[in-house]
Amino acid sequence: MEILTTIKETRDKVKEWKAQGLKVALVPTMGYLHEGHRSLIDRAHKENDKVVVSIFVNPMQFGPNEDLDAYPRDLDRDAAICEAGGVDIIFHPSVEEMYGPDFQSYADMHVLPEKLCGASRPVHFRGVQTVVSKLFHIIPAQRAYFGQKDAQQLAIIRRMVIDMDFDIEIIGCPIIREDDGLAKSSRNTYLSEEERKQAVILNQSLNKGMEAIEAGEKDAAKIKQIITDNLNTCPLAKIDYVEVVSFDTIQPIEKVEGAVLIAIAVYIGTTRLIDNRIIL
Ligand code: PAJ
Repeated sequence: MEILTTIKETRDKVKEWKAQGLKVALVPTMGYLHEGHRSLIDRAHKENDKVVVSIFVNPMQFGPNEDLDAYPRDLDRDAAICEAGGVDIIFHPSVEEMYGPDFQSYADMHVLPEKLCGASRPVHFRGVQTVVSKLFHIIPAQRAYFGQKDAQQLAIIRRMVIDMDFDIEIIGCPIIREDDGLAKSSRNTYLSEEERKQAVILNQSLNKGMEAIEAGEKDAAKIKQIITDNLNTCPLAKIDYVEVVSFDTIQPIEKVEGAVLIAIAVYIGTTRLIDNRIIL
């Protein structure tokens, strides 16, 4: 496995593989890898000849009062996880390599980023789309792997690829959880012992919503209420949003039918966690 830091070396290597007729996969990450990332790497490894993992904490997708500086970083640990997962290249650029001094171009879109995380984090998805576009140009892979943990991000990337004719297949992968149901996240490291215990409320509340749907409830407002009431039983939980939206448009719906995304964002203490269910 090689760790490359320049755009040129990385692009040349991927072009060389493709000239040999090899299938190349990209797994974009911000590092501090866990089993969620590892599941994307494993699938990429199984379905392709070569795997590139990008590790780049992208400043452009963090708002001014967000956790850019505190975001956990550990390249040695990440490299060991990648090596064990059969990764061929880690692309680990500096901020300067990705954003030169005169940088002024962005990738953005209208409807999909407006609600959910886009409403609470106004610059977030513009930053995600810009960096992912750059990664797709730097690493011209045939497939890229994304987690459903970030369901709105996945919907936005799929839309961007269609709208802008990127020649890449997007593969969505299921959410990997801790034994007690908490979705794995690099941000779980921010939680104190007590907060970590209470953080299971996100998954539990989504389960309550799903139970109601399975029992025949179709009214989105009622499902939102069930989830909200359950979250409010947790002393350390502060709701950012609870939404029932169309998975295609990320706009609120009244009735649960078609592809539906139930998405929540909740502060446990000062840590903002997200989780969701997708009904297809
Ligand atoms: P990051 O949060 O590091 O996540 C990288 C990828 O891992 C994303 O596709 C995310 O959905 C997936 N992932 C995270 N936790 C997961 C879990 N518990 N189960 C399954 N998949 C999980 O998402 C980003 O980085 C950035 O926004 C990025 C796309 C790299 C652009 O900077």
